[in-house]
Amino acid sequence: MRKPRKAGGGSQSRGEQPSPDAGPGTPSQASPHHLFGDADEVTKFRASLLSWYDQAKRDLPWRRRAAGEPDPDRRAYSVWVSEIMLQQTQVATVTGYYTRWMQKWPALQDLAGASLEEVNQLWAGLGYYSRGRRLQEGARKVVEELGGHIPRTADMLQKLLPGVGRYTAGAIASIAFGQVTGVVDGNVTRVLCRLRAIGAEPGSPLVTQHLWSLAQQLVDPARPGDFNQAAMELGAMVCTPRGPLCQECPVRDFCQAQKRVKREQAAASQRLLGSLEQEKTLDVEECAPSRTGLCPLCLPPSEPWRQDLGVTNFPRQPARKAPREQRTAVCVLQRLGSESSHFLLVQRPSSGLLAGLWEFPSVPAEGSESIQRRALGKALRLWVGGPLALRSLRCLGEVVHIFSHIRQTYVVYGLTLEEQAQGPPPSGARWVTRAEFQAAAVPTAMKKVLQLFEGQHSGRRKASKSPRDPATSGPEPGPVRRHQQLTLNAFFKPTPAP
Ligand code: ADE
Repeated sequence: MRKPRKAGGGSQSRGEQPSPDAGPGTPSQASPHHLFGDADEVTKFRASLLSWYDQAKRDLPWRRRAAGEPDPDRRAYSVWVSEIMLQQTQVATVTGYYTRWMQKWPALQDLAGASLEEVNQLWAGLGYYSRGRRLQEGARKVVEELGGHIPRTADMLQKLLPGVGRYTAGAIASIAFGQVTGVVDGNVTRVLCRLRAIGAEPGSPLVTQHLWSLAQQLVDPARPGDFNQAAMELGAMVCTPRGPLCQECPVRDFCQAQKRVKREQAAASQRLLGSLEQEKTLDVEECAPSRTGLCPLCLPPSEPWRQDLGVTNFPRQPARKAPREQRTAVCVLQRLGSESSHFLLVQRPSSGLLAGLWEFPSVPAEGSESIQRRALGKALRLWVGGPLALRSLRCLGEVVHIFSHIRQTYVVYGLTLEEQAQGPPPSGARWVTRAEFQAAAVPTAMKKVLQLFEGQHSGRRKASKSPRDPATSGPEPGPVRRHQQLTLNAFFKPTPAP
């Protein structure tokens, strides 16, 4: 990648260094075990990481685009979009979205002129929809208030652009403008925690401050953007959460986690030989305060070293909070037509989860099925804007979708209306064809709901695979059938190929 130009002198932000009068246990007073001590070590580390990156880096569309873009605002825009999309989302998922986005809105000015509906439409399936909305708000702000120029430093980016936090600001400033500023994302956190054997809670203020300070110390002043991307790339490709490829790691010689693994293995074999009687002398590689359990950056005494985990003892896995359970009754209302059938969609409120997206009409799934049916029927009549025969409203089963913090169960109902003249639905509702549904700003969960509906209506036993929402979901539970009794004949019929 072409060496990015430096912005405004490209100097380090002093504000991100630990303050010299920081209190006990702060990075400046951390045990040498958790620091990079001398300049020579830092120089060698940078060289090893960057030469690996130069030959191993993935050819990603945003990298190619930024490398070939001489205009700083266009370059920053292309990095900004990629960094927003990459928040919480895998590279493999982002590439297609990124390419479509850049084809539609190649410059900031194009995005500023787009509607939120268009943004949501393109974003559909990527999850965390407020990211797209903020990106568009940011583009408008740059065009309308900042003369079309994206702020040139991490501090100003963070201050002026909605949705741009400390990480994204540092990534844009270093990659697009060459500002010498380190960044810490999930991958970098893992890499640094292993390199410096940091076993304390990675999200704690102390560890966060320490990691940003290390990132700032390590970032290469000559190639800050490449260095930051190299650290992320290492985390994504080599220093992975499980099963890291330590033998292929270009910086394994600098890795305290590796050294700890070797020490623990040696100690274990010595114990086996019964020769660990003598007082163990403290290795220079070890953390002295941790012997007393007082090091705030080491694995805490409550989480002792586990031999089977090797380097993945670091970083410590924070306890996960169980997602909140939520149940919603949703109805696929289909209106048959001579040419094509239509489905009723309603728009979600303009704030909150899935803001502004379109979905099938729904109500909270409370109480018994008959209570749900009554509530759903009432809502449907309102949305259709007229009377509705509900006799054939059927409960078809359940769909589970995991949002970041919610385990959402949709109790899926279906109702098919024969062709009939109907007035237009009230505002906030619309009838769409199947093709329009696919192209609309519809969340992945609704695609799964339609899949369940169609699976039942076409009489197939197995619903075809629908796209999942890779950004927001964990292991994906599929549609769950209830209420549908299969005949024995249907049960033994071979399943059609997907
Ligand atoms: N994750 C977020 N931004 C990235 C980048 N620029 N390169 C690699 N991984 C990333």
